[in-house]
Amino acid sequence: MNNQLKKQIVEALKDQKEIFGDELFEEKLKKRKTLVVSEKKEVYMEEPALFPEEKEDWELAKSLEELEGLIKDCTECRLHEGRNKFVFGVGNPNADVMVIGEGPGAEEDKQGLPFVGRAGQLLTEILKAINFKREEVYIANVVKCRPPGNRTPLPDEMETCLPYLRKQFELIKPKVVLCLGLTAARGLLHKKDSLTSMRGKVFEFETAKVMVTYHPAALLRNPNWKRGCWEDVQKFRQLYDEIVK
Ligand code: URA
Repeated sequence: MNNQLKKQIVEALKDQKEIFGDELFEEKLKKRKTLVVSEKKEVYMEEPALFPEEKEDWELAKSLEELEGLIKDCTECRLHEGRNKFVFGVGNPNADVMVIGEGPGAEEDKQGLPFVGRAGQLLTEILKAINFKREEVYIANVVKCRPPGNRTPLPDEMETCLPYLRKQFELIKPKVVLCLGLTAARGLLHKKDSLTSMRGKVFEFETAKVMVTYHPAALLRNPNWKRGCWEDVQKFRQLYDEIVK
């Protein structure tokens, strides 16, 4: 069911509630039970839900291009309001390695591409240091639209955008994921742990193994963390060599 239709149904139900009150409104939404006679027993079975699960068009996309075309005008959360460009993701559509950041910054919002600003240049260097070319991996963010003033994306914004990332995973099928920074790690893995406690461990998202390290923007602010990042990405490379190579 598309969002337009959902909105129309919700509006119709609201009108009903106004006219008939809560009772009928709730009654309409309840699942009904039907008497069914099976194997000589009489049992009450639930009828299918009023709104059975129906896939949206983008959930059926067969390629990244198709998916991007179907979601690039998304208005599901408040972040679309200040967006210049929707930042879908970039890279090898068959990548074994995926890199996940937090959300687009000013330059990314201008160009419509992830990690193209200063943090992006550092990311390219980090990848090079562990023998990955930027073009061979796939780079995306937990949220696809720039949060105003580069604020941290809110949990509900990440949650709203996460199905798009899941769909990207379904199409790309990466085997290992490098997750950049605490916000991206929490949004992706649904964890409340600190970055320190997550570093060096292997998590799972969809069918991929995930490791977490510092966000490159944090390394620009605090170069003392570069050593820790270097240790993390070497472990990430080892994981890749074990699983993929
Ligand atoms: N920071 C992110 O998390 N993602 C980008 O794309 C750029 C900066």
